[in-house]
Amino acid sequence: MRTSSFRPFIHIVFAWCSLASVPLSSIRKGTDLPFAANKFIVELDSVADITGKRSGVAVHERFYASLKERAVGFQVDKEFDAPGIFVGAALTLEDVIHFSSSVEGIKSVSPVQIFDRPAPVFSHVVTDINDAAIPPDSQSTHILTGVDKLHAAGITGAGIKIGILDTGIDYTHPLLGGGFGPGFKVVGGYDLVGDNFDGTNTPVPDSDPLDQCEGHGTHVAGIIGADPINAFNISGVAYSSSISAYRIFGCKGYVTDDVIIDALIMGYNDGQDILTLSLGGAAGWTESSSSVVASRIAASGTIVTIAAGNDGSYGSWFSSGPGNGIDVISVASLDNTVIPLQNATVGGVVHDPITYFETFPFPITVALPIYAISNDTTVVDDACSALPDSTPDLSSFLVIVRRGTCPFTQKLANIAAKGATVAFIYDNGNGFAGISVGNFTATLIQAADGEFLVSQFTAGVPVTISFPQSGGAYSYPDSAGGLISSFTSYGPTNDFFFKPAISAPGGNILSTLPVNFGSFGVLSGTSMATPFVAGCASLLLSVKGKGSSIGKTARTLFETTATLVSSSHTDGDPWQTVTQQGAGLINVYNAIHATTIVSPGELILNDTANFQGLQQFTVQNTGTSVKSYQLIHVPAGTAITIRPGTFFPALGPVPLTSDQAKVWLSRTKFTLRPGQKTTILASFTAPSELDSSLLPVYSGFIQISSDSEIAHVSYMGLAASLKDQQVVDNTDFLFGVPLPLTLDADGNAQTGPINYTFTNGNDYPSLLFRLAFGTPLLRMDLVESNIDFQPTLNARTSDPGHFFTFPHMHNGGSFARVKIVGPLAELDFFSRNNEDPDNFGYNTIAMKSPVFANGTAIPNGSYKFLLRALKVTGDPKEEEDFESWLSPTIGIVV
Ligand SMILES: *[C@@H]1O[C@H](CO)[C@@H](O)[C@H](O)[C@H]1NC(C)=O
Ligand SMILES: *[C@@H]1O[C@H](CO)[C@@H](O)[C@H](O)[C@H]1NC(C)=O
Ligand SMILES: *[C@@H]1O[C@H](CO)[C@@H](O)[C@H](O)[C@H]1NC(C)=O
Ligand SMILES: *[C@@H]1O[C@H](CO)[C@@H](O)[C@H](O)[C@H]1NC(C)=O
Ligand SMILES: *[C@@H]1O[C@H](CO)[C@@H](O)[C@H](O)[C@H]1NC(C)=O
Ligand SMILES: *[C@@H]1O[C@H](CO)[C@@H](O)[C@H](O)[C@H]1NC(C)=O
Ligand SMILES: *[C@@H]1O[C@H](CO)[C@@H](O)[C@H](O)[C@H]1NC(C)=O
Ligand SMILES: *[C@@H]1O[C@H](CO)[C@@H](O)[C@H](O)[C@H]1NC(C)=O
Repeated sequence: MRTSSFRPFIHIVFAWCSLASVPLSSIRKGTDLPFAANKFIVELDSVADITGKRSGVAVHERFYASLKERAVGFQVDKEFDAPGIFVGAALTLEDVIHFSSSVEGIKSVSPVQIFDRPAPVFSHVVTDINDAAIPPDSQSTHILTGVDKLHAAGITGAGIKIGILDTGIDYTHPLLGGGFGPGFKVVGGYDLVGDNFDGTNTPVPDSDPLDQCEGHGTHVAGIIGADPINAFNISGVAYSSSISAYRIFGCKGYVTDDVIIDALIMGYNDGQDILTLSLGGAAGWTESSSSVVASRIAASGTIVTIAAGNDGSYGSWFSSGPGNGIDVISVASLDNTVIPLQNATVGGVVHDPITYFETFPFPITVALPIYAISNDTTVVDDACSALPDSTPDLSSFLVIVRRGTCPFTQKLANIAAKGATVAFIYDNGNGFAGISVGNFTATLIQAADGEFLVSQFTAGVPVTISFPQSGGAYSYPDSAGGLISSFTSYGPTNDFFFKPAISAPGGNILSTLPVNFGSFGVLSGTSMATPFVAGCASLLLSVKGKGSSIGKTARTLFETTATLVSSSHTDGDPWQTVTQQGAGLINVYNAIHATTIVSPGELILNDTANFQGLQQFTVQNTGTSVKSYQLIHVPAGTAITIRPGTFFPALGPVPLTSDQAKVWLSRTKFTLRPGQKTTILASFTAPSELDSSLLPVYSGFIQISSDSEIAHVSYMGLAASLKDQQVVDNTDFLFGVPLPLTLDADGNAQTGPINYTFTNGNDYPSLLFRLAFGTPLLRMDLVESNIDFQPTLNARTSDPGHFFTFPHMHNGGSFARVKIVGPLAELDFFSRNNEDPDNFGYNTIAMKSPVFANGTAIPNGSYKFLLRALKVTGDPKEEEDFESWLSPTIGIVV
């Protein structure tokens, strides 16, 4: 069976850090894998592959007939019939006993994956569209990327069709056309799921993709299509384009990838020029069903933009699917440089206004006196515990609290217990940003402002704060802006593809929300950056024409004309690693006006064992005058992707060093006549003296400049062999006991032989394991308890033995020579875990009934679990390329 792992986008506000180990008792009993139970996606040989078959329907009918012949109980959830893209079906199987991937005509079978809804990193909902206090124009995003210049020239995406796969759109919003169907901005689409779909129940489709219960898709739609004439002076990147809304999330819950594939094919069949998906989950591989379908659609010339993911805090090798699809454009987020915020006025003392992190003013019309919870401006855990009895009634005060140690909501609950309803939390050096405060009227202010207020309070000065309901809007120049948002997931993929591809503004973006949500709001995430690139693609197509040849080359054009992004605002710090910024910040004006065409955009050098050090690229002068070019090497920071002293990925922000590759170029200065093209050879040498056990990913750019233009080719390599990286966590890092392990009926680690009866619903074993790194193939087999096999992990000295026995000579190499009783589970292209015990920190596979993977019963007997994980780039036939682990003895007595 082919599978791959997806996990939800994770709501990142702070990096999770593991200090104390997690108790085993916290593990929920049962299987914990990101798959839907008993649901599978089957890809079938399409008509093109089968001679003598006339139609796709025949292919499906033949497949169903062969399942019926085998007495397989199944239900067809969806049928896919897009020859060249995907022909197959999503099935629910009543039993797996008689189902086999060897049924004639089956190309692959994958379990249905579960995706979380696209959670923004921070959201602030504006409450009143008619608010007198209108924030200033936030079109800094357009200026950063050249969109403003194209709009000024009247290029706004007219005639281009964009399909948005998301939560639907509130098309009643006046800036989104105010209606649905032909003649409106939102011209079409479909609701594939219905309001009540949550990822576990049956979708109830209808033809109306209206979203008035979620909002994410409406924000995405505004970034592409908001009409410009409005009090906010915001506009979509391609506001003349026609939008279709493919609604794939209900009002709450998840989506499964059979629905995503259905929507992708629907958008493709509807002839959308661009499809955009602000969703995904950690995957690490290019191979999942939805990644593959998205990639095939992109390869056909339809531009597909997909979010890179918001898992930056978990470090490298955690790229998101379906953004991992080889030919799609995976989009990273850049923090906006200007944020629409509000100023509060200080009374009782002469002082400058205080900027607070809200897009619209607090709805408070009286001046409030202040009350500081602590007079000490260095307090680390202000208001983290219940306030003393001596605390006065705080209901008439603006309460001042210092950030730190505990969640904001905990601080607010403690002050609310004393009657407080309004609070400023002042920063402690973590950075000025939006914070999650639930429904409390509280927000962040900067450290210096908080310290000033506390000093005035301590000195007994009767300071008051008021919140002007108009005129308080302030375009806050974010000194931390202009860099890649720290939440952007890092690549590369485990098979060393270049993800993300490109960056766009996604941090602190003002756009539309459903009218009943207040119509406007600021959100952050790669979800916001992705429609920005879709809008840019529309501008490109509207100028260059809709042919699939433009679609196929769009990513390269965007990559080669992008603007490089630094890793910090400190002079001398390196450029950000391409594993987080991709080829740089998109500049669509440059992409459209480029008269130097460079291809390809990515040079992938791979690891030391598969090193592709000799590369080439072409440079063409498509202008009307002779151009002289100069080529230079611009290295980016080398990402140290493993934590020293461990084999665990370094958490984000991933540390960078200034180590750089050496590059030899066949030519560094040349002249091209109009139309002339030349090929440049580039020979790379990895940086030396790096510790290969830290998996250093080096990267950078070859910059090609003429008098009027700068283009670049990006490169990326690994100064280590991926096969040397340990995959399975065999440490006690997370649980305080070494992994992997089997959990007994009571959820305790099994240490000696145990007989399981599989009665009373609970008496069964579960395998608990964590992956420090992705694996192309994970197998769980049942073996005889007396097997003569030396596992590579946690080898027990009490169980000495030879390597393994060779009872059967299968043609499958040494792996197949290990004698197993039968397979229990196989997971292909499985992601590594993160370090969050509540969300994908580990996996469990429960053996709830004594059956093999094919559903047949396991006879009474004395067995062990054999877990084997293939190392990245390893050969699946070679036992020595696997890490292996043997469980204690598992007796089956049924
Ligand atoms: C919106 O744009 C108009 C025209 O440029 C300008 O006069 C006005 O001040 C802008 N409004 C805001 C809130 O920035
Ligand atoms: C807002 O406050 C900041 C900080 O005091 C100040 O620099 C800025 O001029 C103020 N802007 C407005 C519009 O009040
Ligand atoms: C805020 O949320 C809390 C907890 O959900 C709830 O008890 C409270 O009533 C809410 N307050 C308002 C004003 O909505
Ligand atoms: C903080 O300062 C205020 C004003 O001077 C004073 O009333 C209060 O007692 C001080 N609090 C503490 C805990 O010292
Ligand atoms: C890197 O090398 C491995 C091993 O040959 C291969 O499977 C993988 O596809 C390569 N990656 C790229 C992007 O070519
Ligand atoms: C498991 O059951 C078998 C067969 O009934 C028995 O021989 C063995 O002693 C039992 N082992 C344990 C650990 O109870
Ligand atoms: C199921 O798998 C077991 C173990 O590999 C094997 O012995 C059995 O023949 C298989 N059953 C079917 C129906 O294929
Ligand atoms: C398995 O062993 C149990 C306990 O010895 C016995 O009661 C049961 O009949 C056996 N099952 C089979 C299928 O032999």
